[in-house]
Amino acid sequence: MSETILIEHPLIQHKLTMIRNKDTGPKEFRELVDEVSTLMVYEVTRDLPLEDVEIETPICKTKSKMIRGKNLGIVPILRAGLGMLDGVLDLIPTAKVGHVGLYRDPETLEPVEYYCKLPTDVTERDLIVIDPMLATGGTATAAVDYIKKRNPRNIKLVILIAAPEGIERVQKAHPDVDIYTAAIDEKLNDHAYIVPGLGDAGDRLYGTK
Ligand code: URA
Repeated sequence: MSETILIEHPLIQHKLTMIRNKDTGPKEFRELVDEVSTLMVYEVTRDLPLEDVEIETPICKTKSKMIRGKNLGIVPILRAGLGMLDGVLDLIPTAKVGHVGLYRDPETLEPVEYYCKLPTDVTERDLIVIDPMLATGGTATAAVDYIKKRNPRNIKLVILIAAPEGIERVQKAHPDVDIYTAAIDEKLNDHAYIVPGLGDAGDRLYGTK
C-alpha cells in the first residue's frame, strides 16, 4: 500500500495559512505556492540515492557524497500544477519536465485528457507529479494512469491540500504511488471543492474566474 506523507513543517503550515486566506492576491499567492513547493521538495527527495565521489578540498583529497544519477522528472498537471514547478526546479534544476493536461468536466466531474508530453527517457526516470489540490482524486488518478503507460521507474504525487476522498481514490487505483501533502482537509463540498481548502487553485494563481 502506498504511503501518504503529511509534511507538517511550521514554515509550510504558516505559508499554507496565508495561501488559504481569500484576501491573498495572485502575486502573493504565486510566491507562496512557489516557496511551499520548494520546502516540500526536501521531504519528497529524502530517499534519493547517494554515492561516494572523490574530490579535492583546499586541504586534501577526500571521498564525499553526491546524488547518484540525474534521473528525476517533474510533471505538473496543467494548469494549476505549473504554479508549483519553479519552486520544485529551484532545488532540482537538472530535472526534466513533462506536462499532463486534464480538465474536469463540469457536468460529470470526470477528468478529460487533452495533452501529455513526457521526457523521452521516462523509463529511466522517477517522476514527481505536482498538482496543488487533490479533491475527488479523479484527475490525479487519470494523470497517473496515463503517465504509467510510458513506464516511468516510479511516481510520487506532491499536493498542497488533499481531501480524504482523493487520497483514498488514488491509493486504491495506484497503491504504488506515495502521496506527499502539506494538509489533509475535512471533506469535499457539493461542487467537489475542498473544504476549507483555498478555492480554485488555478484561478487564484492566475487571477482568472
Ligand atoms: N481544484 C481546486 O482548485 N480547488 C478545489 O478545492 C478542488 C479542486
